[in-house]
Amino acid sequence: MEQNVILSVKNLHLDFNLRGRKLHALRGVDLDVYEGEALAIVGESGSGKSVFTKCFMGLTDKNGTISEGSIMYNGLDLSKLTKEKDWLSIRGGEIAMIMQDPMTSLNPLKTIGAQIAEAVALHQGLKGAELREKAMQYIRDVGITEPERRYRQYPHEFSGGMRQRVVIAIALACNPKILICDEPTTALDVTIQAQILQLIKDMKEKYNLTTIFITHDLGVVANIADRVAVMYAGDVIEIGTAEDIFYDAKHPYTWALLSSLPQVGVKGEDLYTIQGTAPNLFKEVCGDAFAPRNPHALKIDFVKRPPYFEVSPTHKAKTWLLDPRAPKADPPAILEKIRSGGLVNGK
Ligand SMILES: Nc1ncnc2c1ncn2[C@@H]1O[C@H](COP(=O)(O)OP(=O)(O)OP(=O)(O)O)[C@@H](O)[C@H]1O
Ligand SMILES: [Mg+2]
Repeated sequence: MEQNVILSVKNLHLDFNLRGRKLHALRGVDLDVYEGEALAIVGESGSGKSVFTKCFMGLTDKNGTISEGSIMYNGLDLSKLTKEKDWLSIRGGEIAMIMQDPMTSLNPLKTIGAQIAEAVALHQGLKGAELREKAMQYIRDVGITEPERRYRQYPHEFSGGMRQRVVIAIALACNPKILICDEPTTALDVTIQAQILQLIKDMKEKYNLTTIFITHDLGVVANIADRVAVMYAGDVIEIGTAEDIFYDAKHPYTWALLSSLPQVGVKGEDLYTIQGTAPNLFKEVCGDAFAPRNPHALKIDFVKRPPYFEVSPTHKAKTWLLDPRAPKADPPAILEKIRSGGLVNGK
């Protein structure tokens, strides 16, 4: 895997102002994204996956402010961009995003051909017949049959899965280096989901993209990711290669997430669910944010926030269990099933 860092996030803090109250949505996130990799970001609903990646595109809601930290991309600190016009050179052309609901990204009043062509014209400067041919090529690329006819149709004439293909075509037409996919298949049927995932994988290869894949479906992650970042309560609490995370996880929150995988469950029994609720981010979190839900919690977990402990050059986690002074805590025995099942890309 190529190890050039294409995007580097350091100590990122994001606050939302809600009727005068402050919600601390990102609490000092560090993350390096490597050029050409497929990175997955996983974590429960509300952990900050979407607000985090929206910071890379200047799409933070109006009531949100980055209060600290940096997002370096191509020598530019994206966290310091404030004007809409400064984002125009980044959005789409450098970093593009596919959202959960394709309709939110499509214009219902324009044919899909026009929408794809618009992106090609803006980001690749083509005109006339050349422009139309290039737009048509993206339609073919994303597996839309009868491209000539489809070119002239409107979004409402497409099924959900086909609309998501159109959104992918528009993203590709911008010629980005990084493609962020935020739960791109959640709204689709299972069989369609698999096709869209495969399409994103194929397009990543064809166009040499770096992909950041947001999902709460670990099964999806095992299928697509080179590396996995696990988010909890506005921070990346563990990161490693897919093998590190699936076969050698260190954070009890990651253990809990893995324990809820259907592959880990016992036939006929209910799937494991994580007890308790995520912390209230209106209050300052003390210690390890997962401590109140963590059956392995130590005293220190309630008072002091754990730093990253390095497990290997590719793997680190924020848990006091990795402190040399900590008592030994073993991952749940059922997680052995993941390894024996060869869940990660057949490995
Ligand atoms: N505009 C906003 N104002 C206030 N709070 C917000 C705003 N946008 C997001 N939040 C809060 O920020 C936190 C992180 O939200 P985010 O949408 O990033 O979660 P997520 O991990 O993407 O969850 P999901 O899996 O449900 O998509 C949540 O507590 C959410 O309520
Ligand atoms: Mg989200």
